[in-house]
Amino acid sequence: MKTLRTIATVRQSLAGRGRVGLVPTMGAFHEGHLALFRAAREECETVVVSLFVNPAQFAANEDLSRYPRDETRDAELAEEAGVDILLVPSAEEMYPDGYATWVDVEEIGAEGAARPGHFRGVATVCLKLFNIVQPQVAYFGQKDAQQAVLLLRMIRDLNVDLDLRIVPTVRDVDGLALSSRNAYLSERERRQALALPRALEAGRAANVEDSDPVAAVRGALNGLEPDYVELLDLDGIKILAAAARVGSTRLIDNVVLEGDLK
Ligand code: PAF
Repeated sequence: MKTLRTIATVRQSLAGRGRVGLVPTMGAFHEGHLALFRAAREECETVVVSLFVNPAQFAANEDLSRYPRDETRDAELAEEAGVDILLVPSAEEMYPDGYATWVDVEEIGAEGAARPGHFRGVATVCLKLFNIVQPQVAYFGQKDAQQAVLLLRMIRDLNVDLDLRIVPTVRDVDGLALSSRNAYLSERERRQALALPRALEAGRAANVEDSDPVAAVRGALNGLEPDYVELLDLDGIKILAAAARVGSTRLIDNVVLEGDLK
């Protein structure tokens, strides 16, 4: 595996590399990321993983400065998973002085409304990465379902020639969705956080019984304060999504109600 830090070197390295799969990430790899790398490895001749903690998607009061970073460990895990190129661009090259162009997808849903500016930063950095790497396929996790909905919309609206694959959420044995932000949870908060996947399962059960899944989630959060609970449509796949705070950590999760991601 090569680690490349400039746009010019990644472009040179990718000339004539066949079907390219890109996995955009912000590092702090866990099994959820590895599932994306493996999916890309199975389907593509060349697998590129980008590692960039994108400042443009964090609001001033969010966790940019304490977001977990460990490039050495991430590089080892990526290499073990068969990644060909780890792209670690600098903030200076991604957003040079005078940077002035942003991608604003207008329908941003509850997650976008809860984090003003967040999805503008996500859409912008993803389009930049798509332009730099020019992959045929890009891989994202189902856990960030609203992000996937937004990127599908951007790809459609801006005629980006790219397939998006959404890979199912990876969970710990007790059901908590893997997330780099789980590292912020104390042991007690980790236990409290389980109310989120359990409430979403209650929502799924309510949906099967034809009762209101959103109300069922709200009623089963066991004291966790929800930012929102909403139903999403990901290209015909119905998803029940929620965000809640556990102490100072904000967690998101979702379950598929109808349809199949694969
Ligand atoms: O999901 C993430 O980790 C980020 O939002 C992404 C897609 C890498 C863009 O910075």
